[in-house]
Amino acid sequence: MPVTFALMLLLSQATTSDPCYDPGGRPRFCLPPVTRLAGMTTACPQACALSPGADLRTPCNGSLALALGSPFLLTSVSLRFCTPGPPALVLSASWAEGGPWRPLWRRAAWSGALGGPDRVTFRMSPGPKASVVASHLLIQLGGRAGLAAAGVRGRCQCHGHAARCATRARPPRCRCRHHTTGPGCESCRPSHRDWPWRPATPRHPHPCLPCSCNQHARRCRFNAELFRLSGGQSGGICERCRHHTAGRHCHYCQPGFWRDPAEPLTSRKACRACQCHPIGATGGACNQTSGQCSCKLGVTGIRCNRCGPGYQQSRSPRMPCQRIPEPTSTLITTPSAYGSDPQCRNYCNTSDTRVHMSLRRYCQQDYVLHAHVLAIEAAGSVWWRLDVRIVAVYKQRARPVPRGGQDAWVPRADLACGCLRLRPGTGYLLLGSAASGPDPARLVLDRHGLALPWRPRWARPLRRLQEEERAGGCRRLQPSTPGPAAEQ
Ligand SMILES: *[C@@H]1O[C@H](CO)[C@@H](O)[C@H](O)[C@H]1NC(C)=O
Ligand SMILES: *[C@@H]1O[C@H](CO)[C@@H](O)[C@H](O)[C@H]1NC(C)=O
Ligand SMILES: *[C@@H]1O[C@H](CO)[C@@H](O)[C@H](O)[C@H]1NC(C)=O
Repeated sequence: MPVTFALMLLLSQATTSDPCYDPGGRPRFCLPPVTRLAGMTTACPQACALSPGADLRTPCNGSLALALGSPFLLTSVSLRFCTPGPPALVLSASWAEGGPWRPLWRRAAWSGALGGPDRVTFRMSPGPKASVVASHLLIQLGGRAGLAAAGVRGRCQCHGHAARCATRARPPRCRCRHHTTGPGCESCRPSHRDWPWRPATPRHPHPCLPCSCNQHARRCRFNAELFRLSGGQSGGICERCRHHTAGRHCHYCQPGFWRDPAEPLTSRKACRACQCHPIGATGGACNQTSGQCSCKLGVTGIRCNRCGPGYQQSRSPRMPCQRIPEPTSTLITTPSAYGSDPQCRNYCNTSDTRVHMSLRRYCQQDYVLHAHVLAIEAAGSVWWRLDVRIVAVYKQRARPVPRGGQDAWVPRADLACGCLRLRPGTGYLLLGSAASGPDPARLVLDRHGLALPWRPRWARPLRRLQEEERAGGCRRLQPSTPGPAAEQ
């Protein structure tokens, strides 16, 4: 606690004692103190004190140049002569070496004297407006005089933005305030370039103003056009936005990142990586506000990592989710097979006259065959034996059925009731359920299955279902229960 207190005291002292800010902390015009400026040289053979051992009788004739080393704000120039002063004097100043000389002070002749006074002081009019900035001085003498000393006083040119200055440094360095920088506070600090730099005046301190970069950039640059367009409100453009932000104020996220609303805009975590799935998404970029990646057809999820409803995973990276062919199922119509006998109707247990051959229905079958029935004959009291030729196997049962000619078996009752209608010399689509026969090797067809007169247009969709099954389509369906579409 005492440490904090002491620190606060120090800080408050620092602010109250800073001439560049008023007690309320508002910036104000400030000037460094007037000092005697160093770095003077003279340009003519010297007399008197300036050049030890010089002959007093060879005084300076003509002009005398003084170089200050850097531009300063001059307040006074005093000359002391070891002889009677010259009868006339002109003091000129130049901003830079070899620059045009501007007369500051002119004294044509001192009346009533042979020579001029041996001490002369030029005072610049006080006040910031009338100040003289000069790095070189020229003293033109109207006759011979021996110069003993020249004293130049002034202050660093800090443009009203500093109250302290390292005068001996070359160039002298102002201790810049108001977020300015440079030897003479002649520009704004990189973080404070929202407004143009201006020198301070007693009426307008013109401090440099910070760019709003949401704490994601340390630098900005001033753009005069933007400043004009904003009506003089703001002209800063943030540079090198960090934390994956972008934009003039680092106020949105880079491509591949999105704005997490749970974090404030100034947070380092305000922008989060999209994490789009490399296969499911069309690219690495996502919606800036929601984080939603752009998914390929049939893919869903914020990162595009799942198949949407009605789609299933495939091995193709180009189309990672493919439509489940359920809606394109084939409508297979059975003839009203069984007779009107209610007992038979009950026995056959088949209310179906239409079958939607969906993937689900297909998967439920023990086998799906295209067979040609060649002949039918009674085989004992329980069975009919069919002589069939298997044309195509669309779904193979656990005990494989070969293509070509073979026997098939139908319970007599099932044929008698008309649960199955079979005629020799006809092609059928045989849908088999896992019927129990006396011999598992037998191909049994009973009332739990269906025999539908073959239609060539069924071949293609059945082939598609077969491909689905080979791609694992039936395995994927297993955990779910049959939907209503399959039961119609
Ligand atoms: C001093 O300068 C004036 C004018 O420039 C010249 O007339 C005069 O002869 C000079 N005197 C000496 C001693 O150089
Ligand atoms: C981003 O998502 C938001 C909200 O989910 C939506 O309003 C906006 O249109 C989306 N932007 C684009 C470019 O899709
Ligand atoms: C009769 O049909 C119903 C529904 O169609 C089915 O759930 C049931 O298993 C069938 N019964 C037999 C003995 O096949």
